[in-house]
Amino acid sequence: MGKNIIMDINHLMADTVGYNYGISREDIDGRAAQAAAAWQAVSKARGSGWLGWTELPYNQQEIVEDILQTARQINERFDAFVVLGIGGSALGPIAVHQALKHLRYNEGTRAQRGHPRFYVEDNIDPERMKALLDVVDLKTTCFNIITKSGATAETMSQYLIISELLKQQVGEGWQRHIIATTDQEKGNLIQLARKEGFKTFYIPSGVGGRFSELSPVGLLPAAVCGIDIKAMLEGAKAMDARCQTEEVWANPALLQAVVQTIAMEEMGVNVQVMMPYADSLKYMADWFCQLWAESLGKNVTRKGRAVNVGQTPVKALGVTDQHSQLQLYTEGPYDKIVTFLRVEKFRNQVDIPHGVAEFPDVAFLGGKSLNQLIEAEYQGTQYALLRAGRMSQTITFPVVDEHSIGQFLYFYELVTAYAGELLDIDAFNQPGVEESKIASYAVLGNTGAKYQSKQAEMAAQPEGRAEYRLG
Ligand code: PA5
Repeated sequence: MGKNIIMDINHLMADTVGYNYGISREDIDGRAAQAAAAWQAVSKARGSGWLGWTELPYNQQEIVEDILQTARQINERFDAFVVLGIGGSALGPIAVHQALKHLRYNEGTRAQRGHPRFYVEDNIDPERMKALLDVVDLKTTCFNIITKSGATAETMSQYLIISELLKQQVGEGWQRHIIATTDQEKGNLIQLARKEGFKTFYIPSGVGGRFSELSPVGLLPAAVCGIDIKAMLEGAKAMDARCQTEEVWANPALLQAVVQTIAMEEMGVNVQVMMPYADSLKYMADWFCQLWAESLGKNVTRKGRAVNVGQTPVKALGVTDQHSQLQLYTEGPYDKIVTFLRVEKFRNQVDIPHGVAEFPDVAFLGGKSLNQLIEAEYQGTQYALLRAGRMSQTITFPVVDEHSIGQFLYFYELVTAYAGELLDIDAFNQPGVEESKIASYAVLGNTGAKYQSKQAEMAAQPEGRAEYRLG
């Protein structure tokens, strides 16, 4: 059984950071009833509506077996595995791969990797698409098209490009190079998949994109690269078990949601910087940013009252961004919480040799390890923030493995659901993203009625003045 990840909020608390800057125990206790109500609402709705993701650790036994078998076949046949998807259909696969595989995975030999090369194409930059096509051989490449809606322009345009190339270069049997991961009923991709006979995995209807990493969206890419997906699901279950109480001081996800809500609503702390002190966790910050931004950035409550809530998530990397962003965090506006992700035991140790005794400021590093140095720099940054009256908190991974990653993913999904309740907003929609999608389709001349009217609306926008454009 894996060890627990630990959430330490001491440096958010007034007892540590000072009463002018921190959250008091009384602030949290004052929210106990509201927190209990949020917990009850989420618990009652588990597995229904948009809370289908709560049950993913429990209800996928058969799917997991299918995924493992498919992953074995992919391993036998293909040299590269490419995910085509965006947002919630890409960020989880990227983050989990970075966390659990060799940090130079694709650069190793096949024997070193033991699995196909892995790419996630979550943008439509034409140069990037060309670059991918320059380094993969379509005859030995499998593409996993992931889109919950089955209609996302970015992903479907990638599908059109790749399917055409596969037809040309692979010919008969090109369909075996495509796996579709999508909704079982809705969207275009499922219809295409049925027409072409693609192997298909379903994203359950109650699982939105950013809550889908523990569904086939994340499990298939992980399994293809040899990640133990059962252990990831076990980790999620372990976190779920730790959050089975409405008592705020005994439920880490609920406590986290409460402190962030207090910070937002009572202290104007509208920025949260996630700063992993580990390259393996670098893209967990990206995954978190989408979850937090898209779920909580809303303009109305569930009853339609204007609120404009949300906390801007920012990604940083320790120690790299100590030399880039930390100056702002220690001396800029008091509007941030820094969430450190810390690793207790790295999977490797690298020792720093002794040398240059004549330079004491360098020589003192000799005999230490990079492991000690990165830990010292985390402690130093935490202290610098404390000295400056800035709030921070730390989530410690005993080790980065499947179990701790499963815990982390499920933890933040729960925190987000509780925070949505506490803020009284719909954490599961994204109307602000839809607007931009419709507008882009309108620009491209989609003939559907809503795009036509959007075209007219966009044509009426201010043209802009020549003197504001400098060249
Ligand atoms: O979280 C979400 O719902 C979104 O970010 C989606 O994941 C993103 O827009 C991609 O959508 P789809 O999976 O439908 O292609």
